[in-house]
Amino acid sequence: MLLSREEMRFDFGGAKLDPVADRDVIAFAVQQFLYGEVTGIQVGHWLYNAPDLDAARFFARQSLEEMQHVGNFLRILEILGVEAQPAHPAIRFLATGMMPSTFEEHVALEMALGEGLVLEAFYALIDTVEHPEIVAILKRGVRQEESHVAFGERRTKAAIESRPALRRRLLGTCLMSLWVVSRFGRYLEKKMPPEHPLLRQIPAFVAHVVKNAEIRLRRIGVLDRPLASIGPAARVALVGESYATKAVLGFLDVLAAPFRLLPWFARKRLTETYLSDPMVRGHALKAQSADDAEAST
Ligand SMILES: [Fe+2]
Ligand SMILES: [Fe+2]
Repeated sequence: MLLSREEMRFDFGGAKLDPVADRDVIAFAVQQFLYGEVTGIQVGHWLYNAPDLDAARFFARQSLEEMQHVGNFLRILEILGVEAQPAHPAIRFLATGMMPSTFEEHVALEMALGEGLVLEAFYALIDTVEHPEIVAILKRGVRQEESHVAFGERRTKAAIESRPALRRRLLGTCLMSLWVVSRFGRYLEKKMPPEHPLLRQIPAFVAHVVKNAEIRLRRIGVLDRPLASIGPAARVALVGESYATKAVLGFLDVLAAPFRLLPWFARKRLTETYLSDPMVRGHALKAQSADDAEAST
């Protein structure tokens, strides 16, 4: 990952969450995570639309992991003695309302940025919930989430390097996502009891998470200057531009749909492209050089 665990962890100064006294707060967090894990069904869409075998193989594994995480959070709710409840609208909007339309948006917005934000909330619970089984369940999933973030970072970086024009569009959607996260942070600030030693630190934690998202976007290359140097008007313009481009591309996609029924214009999937896939060619080259080496001995 482009940020270390140490950078992502927030120091709550030893404050803890008690599974009995703070049950509602822990359960509220878990309800949001549960929804996020169920949105793992979207990975099926990206598997079918994977641009190469590297992505397809990763998504196949990720879909399994996200479904395992659903079970993890159901178990935590069972431990807490709480029924599954709907997630907050902001979380539903972030996880499904903003579902990207392209692979590049998916790896940037959902995996690098989105799963990066969630990962920090997982670390926070691991560090503060005083319940060994809950912590052990969270720890089991966290390494897999780290690999999802790392994949998102790697593929977003590669996408921008090969198509620099993508950067502005990805930045616009990421800014929109960060704005929703900040609004959700303000909602949490109002909801949390100010006298609680841990919960009163939530605004500082949200600020830490947003700051780390900025660092991640800079290290990936989506952001080329400090976020503070982009004024409110420029941010609105970037978000507007990004969504206008998405709308135009979506409209063109609808117009092109009838033509895709014709074999010449059909969208090329891995079944058509796998023979020229870098992974297949890599294997072919390795096999070829092994054959050459054998032939020369
Ligand atoms: Fe997950
Ligand atoms: Fe994940």
